[in-house]
Amino acid sequence: MHYASAALVALLAGTASAAIKDWQQCGGSGYQGETTCASGSGCVALSDFYSQCQPGAVSNPQPDPQPEEPAASSVLSASPTASSKPSGAGPGKQLQSGYYWVRGVTAPNYHKYVQSKPLYATGAAVLGDYTTAGQLQVQSGQLVQLVSGPGEKPEKLLYGIVSETRSINNASLALTWSESKNTYGTFKWGGDDLQWSVSGINRPNPSAWYICTGQLMYINLGNYMYQTPSGCADQTIHYYNDKTANN
Ligand SMILES: *[C@@H]1O[C@H](CO)[C@@H](O)[C@H](O)[C@H]1NC(C)=O
Repeated sequence: MHYASAALVALLAGTASAAIKDWQQCGGSGYQGETTCASGSGCVALSDFYSQCQPGAVSNPQPDPQPEEPAASSVLSASPTASSKPSGAGPGKQLQSGYYWVRGVTAPNYHKYVQSKPLYATGAAVLGDYTTAGQLQVQSGQLVQLVSGPGEKPEKLLYGIVSETRSINNASLALTWSESKNTYGTFKWGGDDLQWSVSGINRPNPSAWYICTGQLMYINLGNYMYQTPSGCADQTIHYYNDKTANN
């Protein structure tokens, strides 16, 4: 949904909007929640599909220049139907050939699995329940998630997008899912660890991730298990290939 449209709809509906906490979602294509950040924070676009409240930021919830404001009538008609539509039916609970389950292995994210929220749709990348685990692979430096139905050809993929905008403590980069390829840095497996690197940033641990409030995934550019931001847990993330994802 258009950010301004969401605000306008909330206004027209006469709903009081509760301010969104720092580092939580405030916009993006398909997003239907509140759009007002807490005082002193601004809504910043990390991709077409994900905007986030950041302390001290000037609100800039649109990544691209937008066309002129839609007419009020189109705002009203668009609002009830707008939703983040799954990009595919999803591959189900049996692991498809060539893909992996990818998960955290330590508390508080023991056997929590990489997936998209909403499932199989563009938007936030989270560590979530084993019953909704995503099926992933690294292909030519891209982190991909299979979102088409079992055996469906051609396969439909979502790509893990790394934000170039730094988030929490200026030491983390949000991961979101998109139908377009990632253009910032390269994913690879280091053993069974999901790693990311980019030229110009020397990470002390290329396998270091943060899982923060809302189970949102961030690349940790700093040290692993050191100066962990409040609301976040350190995690490394690992693949395995049993037939089904287990608890
Ligand atoms: C964030 O980190 C980058 C890279 O170390 C640095 O250049 C920048 O000044 C930092 N920004 C803030 C607000 O601390």
